[in-house]
Amino acid sequence: MTLKLEKVSHRYKDQEALKSIDCELSPGIYGLLGPNGAGKSTLLRILVDVLVPTNGRVLYNNRAITALGASYREQLGYLPQEFHGYSQFTAEEFLKYVANLKGLDAKTARVRVKHVLALVGLTSASRKKLKGYSGGMRRRVGIAQALLNNPKVLILDEPTAGLDPSERIRLRGILSQLAQDTIIILSTHIVSDIEYVADEVLLLKEGQLIEKASPRELLAKLDRQVWTVQVQHDELSTYTTSYPISNLQLQEEYVDIRIVSQAKPHDAAQPTKPRMEDLYVYYFGSGDTSSS
Ligand SMILES: Nc1ncnc2c1ncn2[C@@H]1O[C@H](COP(=O)(O)OP(=O)(O)OP(=O)(O)O)[C@@H](O)[C@H]1O
Ligand SMILES: [Mg+2]
Repeated sequence: MTLKLEKVSHRYKDQEALKSIDCELSPGIYGLLGPNGAGKSTLLRILVDVLVPTNGRVLYNNRAITALGASYREQLGYLPQEFHGYSQFTAEEFLKYVANLKGLDAKTARVRVKHVLALVGLTSASRKKLKGYSGGMRRRVGIAQALLNNPKVLILDEPTAGLDPSERIRLRGILSQLAQDTIIILSTHIVSDIEYVADEVLLLKEGQLIEKASPRELLAKLDRQVWTVQVQHDELSTYTTSYPISNLQLQEEYVDIRIVSQAKPHDAAQPTKPRMEDLYVYYFGSGDTSSS
């Protein structure tokens, strides 16, 4: 099973959102990482055939998804970045409704709805209306609806947004169980999510795919370029304006900072083992490392 992008480009009026993306995906987990506006949602919407690229094409098992139409969409599970569900429905009603739309027969629907509710940990809340759900609970309903039809291609646009730490871990577990025979692509800003779950990371910058490699391979590129140093509080701004800072911890007497730099930034700087948070800064600068 393969999903292949051939020179996929997309332009919205005056905005070039994707620039000739070439890439081939097979079963496994892909983390799509990039700052706000990099083109992640655009790429994912193209992969689920809700947006037709202005150039290039997507092939599923070597056939264009636009030609496959419904038979491709049947294989898909998709969580959009903005997912609301219907607030007057309970989670169970909503999932049954989606199962119906996806063409599942009544018996299969009952079994699958129960199964996905349990997977996302919403069994006990399943008879509550969605309007009474918290943001994170709604997100989990969104993940559940994407899993209903046992998709072969699972596309999740920022699935961890709003999830608490234990729910993030639960999601990792769900995804790794599916990964053997499912192509899973998730976008996120939460670098640690990708570090622990992704077989490969796709780095998207200004509409271009700048890297596609395993976390380990990417981190190897940063070898000897990450430093820790303790600086005085009043020296801090000198460093934050001169170097990409991937982490900063305020102590009473000084500040511990992590710097990504080819050159040693300070006499007392110590080389340290690269982590994913450093990778983000290396490729995208220190402007957007938020974990929300
Ligand atoms: N419907 C649209 N009309 C015009 N421009 C758009 C539209 N959707 C996205 N864009 C632009 O395309 C670019 C890529 O947007 P996209 O939503 O794909 O980014 P993203 O990586 O998903 O960002 P985020 O992390 O904020 O979700 C941005 O410059 C955005 O302003
Ligand atoms: Mg987006």
